Formats: sequence, C-alpha cells, structure tokens
Amino acid sequence: MNAVDGSVVQLRAGGTSIIALVDAGRLPRIVHWGADLGELDDAALSAIVLSALPAVGDSAVSYPQPVPVLPQLAEGWLGRPGLSGSSDGTRWAPKFGAASTSVETRDGGQILRCDAVDAEYGLSLSIEIEVLASGLARQRATLVNERGESYRVDGLELAFPVPVTATEVLDFTGRWSLEKVPQRRPFHIGAWLRESRGGKPGLEHTMLLAAGEAGFGFQSGAVWAVHLGWSGNQVLAAERMPSGVQHLSAGEIILPGEVTLAAGERYTSPWLYGSWGNGLDELAGRFHNEIRSWPQHPSSPRPVILNTWEAVYFNHDLATLSALAEKGAALGVERFVVDDGWFLGRRSDRTSLGDWTVDPAVWPMGLEPLAQRVRELGMEFGLWFEPEMINLDSELARTHPEWIFDAGHGAGIPSRYQHVLDLGHEGAYAHVRDAMFALVGALDIAYIKWDHNRYLLDAGHSPSGRPGARVQTLQAYRLMAELKQAFPGLEIESCASGGGRIDLGVLAHTDRVWPSDCNDPHERLEIQRWTGLMVPPEYQGTHIGAAESHTTHRIHPLDYRAEKALWGHLGVELNLLEEDEATLATVGSWIAFHREHRGLLHSGRVVHADLPNAATRLQGVVARDGAEALYAFSVTERPANWPPGRVTLPGLDGERSYRVSAVFPGTPLPEGAVVPPWLWSGVTLPGRVLGTIGIEAPSLDPDTSMLFHVTAVDA
Ligand code: DGJ
Repeated sequence: MNAVDGSVVQLRAGGTSIIALVDAGRLPRIVHWGADLGELDDAALSAIVLSALPAVGDSAVSYPQPVPVLPQLAEGWLGRPGLSGSSDGTRWAPKFGAASTSVETRDGGQILRCDAVDAEYGLSLSIEIEVLASGLARQRATLVNERGESYRVDGLELAFPVPVTATEVLDFTGRWSLEKVPQRRPFHIGAWLRESRGGKPGLEHTMLLAAGEAGFGFQSGAVWAVHLGWSGNQVLAAERMPSGVQHLSAGEIILPGEVTLAAGERYTSPWLYGSWGNGLDELAGRFHNEIRSWPQHPSSPRPVILNTWEAVYFNHDLATLSALAEKGAALGVERFVVDDGWFLGRRSDRTSLGDWTVDPAVWPMGLEPLAQRVRELGMEFGLWFEPEMINLDSELARTHPEWIFDAGHGAGIPSRYQHVLDLGHEGAYAHVRDAMFALVGALDIAYIKWDHNRYLLDAGHSPSGRPGARVQTLQAYRLMAELKQAFPGLEIESCASGGGRIDLGVLAHTDRVWPSDCNDPHERLEIQRWTGLMVPPEYQGTHIGAAESHTTHRIHPLDYRAEKALWGHLGVELNLLEEDEATLATVGSWIAFHREHRGLLHSGRVVHADLPNAATRLQGVVARDGAEALYAFSVTERPANWPPGRVTLPGLDGERSYRVSAVFPGTPLPEGAVVPPWLWSGVTLPGRVLGTIGIEAPSLDPDTSMLFHVTAVDA
C-alpha cells in the first residue's frame, strides 16, 4: 500500500483506466473511467486534470465538475446525495474530507483507498475504488459512527461518471416469464431511477444500468454500465445535471432504522460494479472474465440436468421419477433434480412451505431409494427448496406464526398463496438450516435449486414490526455460505420465479441462475442474451422444454428448443416418459453435441453481431485462443426483405483463416430452409473477411436456426 503524494492517481488493469483526483481534503473525484490511456507520467496526469476542469462563472449554482464518487450537498451538489442519514435531525449534511489516500496493486488489479473524516460530525468514511485484473471496476464505502449518539443511515450511493458523449440510456424491465426486456431512452437532464423494493432484485429488475454513445450495439459504440452486487432492496440511477455532469450510481434502499450505527459501529455498502466497452460484448466480457477468475467459479464440466418441474409438476412417486431418471440417464443426463412437490403435504402450491421433511404419504421410504437409483445411473442428485418462504397452511405456520413477517397489519397479502419466513428470527433460521442440513447430508445432495417466489413487501420483524428486508438478505447469504462450508462441492442455483434474483451478491454464493420460467426458445433467445450481459453462459440454466411451451403455449420444433438451450448450462425439462423414440434420440443427440462443445461454450468469449435485419440474430462463442468458434444464426420473425443477406461472424482472429461449416446436431436441415451455395461444401475465409463482410445467411422460417462451426485451418 503506497501513500499518494500527488493529487492525481491512475488505476490501470484489464484494458481499463481510472484517473482520479485525490487532492487533499476532498473525496476522490473520477475524471476518467473507461479505455486504458496507457502509462501516463505525473505531468500528463496533472495536465489531464487541468484540461478537464470546466469554466465556472460567478453565478454558477451547480457544482463544478468533477463530483466526488460520494456526492455531497455541502459541496454544492444538487443531485441525489451520496450519504443520507442523521442523528435525529442533526448531522444530516456531511462534508467529508480525505485524511489519507493510498494505492495498492493486488491480484493483477489496482485499488485506491481513501480514508476521510467529517470531524465536526464525528463520522469517518473509507472509500475503495478498484480496477480488477478483468478490467471491471468496483467501489464501496464503509461509514463509521465515531460518536456517542446513534446515527441512522438512510442511504449510501456511490457513482461512476460517464462522459457527455453517452447520450442514450439502456436498462431492463420484465415480468414473470419475460425477464430482461430492454428499454432505451435519451439521457435527459434529471434522474432516471430503477428501484427494487421487494426484498430482492425482482423480475423487473434492471440488473445493469447502461449509458452509451447514440446507437451503441454489441460490437460498437462506447458504453458504460453499473451493477449493484446486492440481492435486496436497491436503487440504480442515471443522473444528468445541467452542468454537464452525468453519472451512473447505485446503493441499497435502506428502510427506516435498518441501519442505525451506535458509537463505533460501521456500515459497508455493497460493491458497485462498473464495466465499459466498445460495444456491449466487450462490456459483458469484463463481467465474464471477472466471474471466471473467482476461486469458486465451477471448474468441472457443467453436468447436464434433468429437472422434474415441467415434466411432472407435483405428481411425484418413486416409480415415475425413477423411470424419468432412467430415461434421462440413457440420453446423457448427468444430474437429476427433484423440483417442488416432495415435502410434507405439498400436493399443490397452496400448502406446506416451511415443512421441509419428505412427505411419507408420497415417499413412504423417503427420497433415499430415488437418490440411490439416480446415483446408480451415474447421475448426481439435486433437490428444490424455497428456504425463505412459508405457507399459512403448514405445520410451521401453525407452530410459529410469529416467524411470519408482520409490520403491524398481520401477515399481509399472499402471493402464490405464500408468505415470507422471517429468517431474522434465529429460531426460524435454525429450523430451515437444520432441515436442509439433514436432507443434504442424508441424501448426499449435490445440488440445491433455491427458489424465492414472493416479494417481501411490508416485511416487519415481530414483535417490533421493524423492517427486516436487509437482515433477510444477509441471512439468506449466511445460510448459503453455511451449507457450502458444511458440504464442500455442494452447488446452489439461484431461482426467484425465474430470473428474480440474479446479481453478483448472490452469485458469490451460487453456481447457477435460472434466467426465466419461460422455456419458449423465442423468448429465451432474448432473455439469455440480455442476462448474458453480466452472467457467463456456464451460470445460465437453459432447458429444453416441451414442444408446446408451458408459459406461452407457442409450439416450437425440438431443434430450435434444443439449440437455444445449447448455449448455457444445459438441462431438460420435459416429460421424457411421454416422448416418442425419435424425439428421445434427437434430445440425446443435442445433449451429446452440448457435452462435446461445452468446454468451448463455457470458457469462450460471447459475441453477437449487430445485424441490419431486425428479424435475425447471430450469436456465438469464440475460443480464448481463437482456434474455434460456434455460432447460431436465428430468424425470429418474417421480415419484408428476403433472403436475409449477409451475417458477420464477430470475434475471430483477423490474421487467421477459418473453415466455416453448418452443423446439424438434430434434424439435418430445418424444414423450409433455403440455403446459399457455400453451405453445401463449407467455406474457408480469413477471420478479417468473416468479421467484416461476412457470409450469406440461409433463408429460414421464423423460430428456426442454424449452427455454424468454425475452426482455424492455419494451426
Ligand atoms: C418457480 C420456479 O421458477 C420454477 O422453476 C419451479 O421451481 C417452481 N417455482 C416450483 O414451484
């Protein structure tokens, strides 16, 4: 850790630079976050800062640029405050000044730490600004109440500045079975807020809040985005001031009294992550590289899953699930997951959440015989839980009604007939933990699907009724961590009615996310590519569902369903007992193809072409060494201009030559396909040509696709 003597600091790693002003008495102010500007000497850094300071007239009301990463009203900032809080109405307008600043090189990245104080208020603040080896940036702050009177924290939001060339904001919304719907708008003066107030990010959560140059796409246009690594209430803001300052900020939404600091106590904010890129693929790549560098990143091949939910729903019994497991194993499935419906009295979604013991009426010999059969078949055994929930119709609710959240008006409105179990009660926590530990141990469970189907709403901790949302998130993390510690190798999937809890907070404890309950490939194409802006393919659960989607009732050919499932952590979620032999054989071929290529799919660079034809998509994964790639060309609608024209294959090494071949893991050629001449023989072209001019695409019916396998021929 080196103390900083100058007034400007440059952090560099992974193609990213941050240049920050760290002059004495002020909090760090970032003047550049984005492309690496190379090694700059002190004179150049000072000149950058000098040339970046704006003209400020006599009557300037608004704060002169740049603003600290924690903006303060006391310094003239009229936007969203960095820190909100008070001691019963005093100490409400803090003014922190840096006491010391240091820079450390750590794990291939660089971290700037600024320790600041507000001596008058008796508050101290530590800010960490880090550029990780992946080029991802992150910040967090720790606030300490140094004084006797308690200090109530109402919010702590940090900000990353973006340049005025970022004129367009991209964020996401969604609903059940249709997560990650993009919305774009001009970056107007004011604040564009995206809030999650339901105790989890939620189905409509934006995950990323991005701003970029007009029309930025996957391959071009500078774009910046932030993400909060937190699975609870939160706010993300894109804020632009008349002064030309614009930034992306985020922080926890702290409910009244959730964080009250006694003397000496501290609050540490969640990490605020920031990524940038020339195009969204580069931005996403930094998240992927970072997540892939984590020690807990799953290193084993992602086992192909068979999940019972859409196959049999609540219709469980040993004979049926054993038969299903046998069918799956024969097709190459490697992990069998028993979804909802196995515990005491759970014959529908109206009862039993909280009663985590195996239902003797359905499973007279327990789940052991099934788990054993699954293992005999060479598969791992997985089980579904919804640890944070409770049905009023359950033994648990009858015994411990005080463990149901209640802010003073009773248990509140049900959602899917359920309520939230307040894990802030140590008894409730122990009840769930002990039940899960017992089952994971007895059944040798390799995998937990961890669901979360109700928002927290007025989640008061009994008997006081004080807000309990924040503690609930921390307790969920604690339980995940305890399970993982007690059962090394145990994997956990984060599911919340689909993609309602996907963030870097929960990903630190889990190994897979469930992007959506929608297995319809038409929708999945979009949901997966947007979820993929942060989540690498090996973490995204992607299942082959039934021909008629259970959520949209569209009917799709098996090849399209399988092709869209190919790209993530593959699973099967259809009733194999009811499928004919031809279908089973095709499912088996796709599983075999996935297993053959998952090394590439789960380690390579994810790319998308920006195609002029809005009814077409081109996605791919390129091997790290550039020697191989797999692409899918898909048609989503029936466009007016036809044939679809050329598609570029991004991400290849421009200096190498590649052989492009169409591959058909399932049916040889989609019905109705009309193919261009090159496709019969394959074609060999330099990567530069494939990435720039591209190749003629086949004419396909809507909701069909074709795979191209690309291999370097100059090796
Ligand atoms: C909601 C999940 O998203 C589904 O995948 C399934 O696990 C059901 N819950 C089970 O109740």
